[in-house]
Amino acid sequence: MISSPLALTAGVETPMRKLLIAANWKMNLTPAEGRALLAALRANLDPDAATLVRDREVMVAPPFLAIPAAAQALAGSSIALGAQNVHFEPKGAFTGEISPAMLKFFGISYVIVGHSERRHIFHETDDLIAKRVAGAIANRLTPILCVGETLEQRDGGHTLETVLGQLENGLTGMKPEDASRVVVAYEPVWAIGTGRTATPEQAQTVHGAIRELLADSFGHDAANNIRILYGGSVTPDNIDSLAAKPDIDGALVGSASLTAESFARIVRAKLS
Ligand code: PGA
Repeated sequence: MISSPLALTAGVETPMRKLLIAANWKMNLTPAEGRALLAALRANLDPDAATLVRDREVMVAPPFLAIPAAAQALAGSSIALGAQNVHFEPKGAFTGEISPAMLKFFGISYVIVGHSERRHIFHETDDLIAKRVAGAIANRLTPILCVGETLEQRDGGHTLETVLGQLENGLTGMKPEDASRVVVAYEPVWAIGTGRTATPEQAQTVHGAIRELLADSFGHDAANNIRILYGGSVTPDNIDSLAAKPDIDGALVGSASLTAESFARIVRAKLS
């Protein structure tokens, strides 16, 4: 939910959190298919672009090889470009990795880090993920740090311990003055690509706990500025009830970002 532009916290004016609707295409779409999808998305959103841009941001993260085509297709639009991962070294012998400068060349501003598929399929550790987050911040890229529990962890009553542990580890060494530049995405692993979404109440409980931990670590002002996205089977049908929750500041969308109509509807989330 968007907080009031002039919300007061302990007498301090806090800037509003702008809703962020982010598309994660994962390993889908060739450059040509990506270009066509973005043209259709722009055509769908353009009539409302001026109003939408005031209170929300839209980001699309294509596979690396589709980034140049996507950058062309988005020229002159307010849709931001993201990448699905980033390395933390400027260059060197890191086969298969992509540096921050390579991404910035194409106008990338966001990088998804620590996605559950990176953690579970490619065995990325908290330590590696923390380095990627720090590398993104050092290079003025906005990291979207993903955290989330498996079904086993939820059923065992370990949801908050897992999520908050990943958050704390992922932000190791983060300076309070940099913390507001981080975006967090809560993505329960059992809800990703399964069609089974967390209820808005389940998501809000975790988002609230994330914000509390952020406030303890970085202070209330930073915690109030940090956007916490929900991800996991977000669709046009559930986005409004999720976005209505006080600590849900947007969505990280997989499957439903692969067609222009469904992603455009999610971008038009009602803010209450
Ligand atoms: P999904 O993916 O929307 O297909 O569940 C979300 C994500 O993994 O970011």
